Amino acid sequence: MTTTPEPPTAGPAAPDAVTSARAASGAVQPTTAPVPSAGTPVRDLPRSRVFSGIQPSGLPHVGNYLGALANYIAMQESHDAIYCIVDYHALTSTHDGELIRRNTHEMALGLLALGLDPERAILFRQSDRPEHTELTWLLSSVVPVTWIERTPSFKEKRRYQPEDINHALLTYPVLQAADIAIYHARYVPVGKDQAAHLELAREIVRAWNARYGDYFIEAEAVFSDAPVVRGTDGVNKMSKSLGNVIDIFAEPDVIRRQVMSMVTDTQRILRTDPGRPEVCNVCQLHRFFSPLEYEAIWDGERTARTGCVDTKRLLADRIIETFAGARERRRELAERPGYVEEVLRAGAARLEPMARETIAVCHERMGLGPVER
Ligand code: TYM
Repeated sequence: MTTTPEPPTAGPAAPDAVTSARAASGAVQPTTAPVPSAGTPVRDLPRSRVFSGIQPSGLPHVGNYLGALANYIAMQESHDAIYCIVDYHALTSTHDGELIRRNTHEMALGLLALGLDPERAILFRQSDRPEHTELTWLLSSVVPVTWIERTPSFKEKRRYQPEDINHALLTYPVLQAADIAIYHARYVPVGKDQAAHLELAREIVRAWNARYGDYFIEAEAVFSDAPVVRGTDGVNKMSKSLGNVIDIFAEPDVIRRQVMSMVTDTQRILRTDPGRPEVCNVCQLHRFFSPLEYEAIWDGERTARTGCVDTKRLLADRIIETFAGARERRRELAERPGYVEEVLRAGAARLEPMARETIAVCHERMGLGPVER
């Protein structure tokens, strides 16, 4: 999947996601938490429950951050936020137990370093609340197989891991629907690549409500200003499994290497050729990391006043600078033995009553055995 290029707007865009990128990293402290949703600014949404999940793929990357994590952090201020590291989902493509364990720890550490505050939001590991899998089964009984066979992510996975089209892969979006429904979340901050999963989650709870009576909320996706962020190959979605990421927490020289390897405008062969900033991924990322200089960067590329190497160097500097504070915090947190595990367990424990209540209601409505509350 590719990113829709962002056209130049009147004047340099100063997307709110950047404000929070800087805020989370400690570089700039904003006075508000202003990351927008699609249409409605986050701050204008009524205070209610937010849920989102992220796969334990190790360290978060720039795509995760611009697509979703900036909103995770912003929404913990204004909503009752629950964030989950979805290790059950990871089983659909990773079969190395030690790797899942390590990556779950890394991802939790990364989220905490970026500013996720366990005093304000709940952070937990999906497999610590096995009710998610039970609800998946209960919901799956209202889901026609054709709905999930047509999910873009299932088709994508079929292409990327043709040797391993396991049954869990098919059920993946039902588990995602259960994650959201079990806590009756109203808003789900996600990147735009998750739009189809969110739509399916709404259809699934609608089907359940139609059969067993209104109970679950049809949750709404909350998108940031960012498009689906393209990877360093300039074509595909930035994704760990495609090896085309810019890591947030890598050492500065690694970030520099990743940025310098970015594919830019393939039609710009000579330094003197005018570029097409609207298709150049480097320029598009400057929109978020250099909002004040964005217009000048755009113009420099279009008129060939600047070369790709210059704009890449600047982007690497900006990304390193934006996350410098978070990188430092990650180092500090990593030195506290047991801290991450403590946060994850405490988060799961706080959610137990809510998860059990949902399962109890489902049992009642669906004619299953009584659940102790
Ligand atoms: P995952 O782990 O692939 O990604 C985590 C979050 O990062 C966003 N994201 C991106 N946004 C823009 N550009 C990109 N290149 C990019 N790559 C990742 C994703 O949109 C996501 O918000 N299926 C989900 C995890 C999940 C979930 C849930 C999400 C499981 N249960 C319940 C919400 C609610 C996933 O694989 O995200």
